[in-house]
Amino acid sequence: MKPMARMRGLRELQLAISHEHPKIHAEIRRHLATLPENTRRTAEHLFLAGGKLLRPLLTLLTGRALGCKDDGLYTLGAALEMVHAATLLHDDILDNSHLRRGQSAAHIRFGAVPALLSGDALLAKALRMVASFGDPGFIDCVAEAVMRTAEGEIAEFACLRDISLSHEDYLGIVTGKTAWMLRAACELGALSARAEPPLLEAAAVFGLELGIAFQIVDDALDFYPSRAEAGTGKPRGGDLREGKVTPPLLFHLEGLSAREAAIFRKNFADNAFSDADLERICDEIYNKGCAERARNLAEEHLGQAEKALAAFPPTPEHRILLQITRYILTRKE
Ligand code: FPP
Ligand code: MG
Repeated sequence: MKPMARMRGLRELQLAISHEHPKIHAEIRRHLATLPENTRRTAEHLFLAGGKLLRPLLTLLTGRALGCKDDGLYTLGAALEMVHAATLLHDDILDNSHLRRGQSAAHIRFGAVPALLSGDALLAKALRMVASFGDPGFIDCVAEAVMRTAEGEIAEFACLRDISLSHEDYLGIVTGKTAWMLRAACELGALSARAEPPLLEAAAVFGLELGIAFQIVDDALDFYPSRAEAGTGKPRGGDLREGKVTPPLLFHLEGLSAREAAIFRKNFADNAFSDADLERICDEIYNKGCAERARNLAEEHLGQAEKALAAFPPTPEHRILLQITRYILTRKE
């Protein structure tokens, strides 16, 4: 993208965010209000802490870029954000994470049972919102994404603390646990616009590649010294602590001698690293440029996303979607 177009895209993205966020929030609040009281409290705890609303934005922008003018896009986007929230309620229990969006995770605040079951209620509510459109294609799209997300999470758990994981295995995991939901966000927009199959496919590929890149950048940020100061609610080295093998760690391992790798393998498998060890390993990985290499990998996927987007007609929304690919690469939190 040329610098002038990039500047314009950035302005348009900021405008879109400030214009659309309140409307998406209002739509989410409207539907949360109809949840049973004890599930609503838990869900609201998570939503009130903020969130980027990336999935609803993608549904809105993809839908409009392909010609949909219907406000139903807000309902679909809100539904996907609610599915996403449901996965986070579950994820924090599975990962035993105590912080989410800078505050106590819902299972810490309310207990694991309310958090788990509020996630289920939120998921059911979101599916009902999607079903209200009366289009089996919409429900099929979201159901597929939920199944793929679960598949990715299970695969990740099966590989915890195992440094023999390959880059391909990692890609399979993040494609499931993160990218399918972003794919569904873009597909829902394209389905709402009644897009022809080639454009539907372009939207799906765009969302999937964007999602892969999003997770790779997330995993790179885990090693940044700035993570500790960013106030993101995620402690630095969280993935290492949880035993997750991600690209910066894979690049780091590639540079170790056989003896060093064997020692690392044993300590990692036994969860034997102290906090000081973890901090030192994060520093080493960061200073060796392994997190930066992961960002380069993300850039390759963003390149694929941009290529898919080339099939879209030239509209302001198209420019903003392109700008989102830049935001994903450069985000700090
Ligand atoms: C965050 O990843 C978690 C996800 C992207 C998906 C979680 C999905 C599930 C728990 C299964 C499906 C559940 C439902 C309700 C359909 P992360 O742990 O790497 O990131 P984090 O640092 O933000 O926690
Ligand atoms: Mg987690």
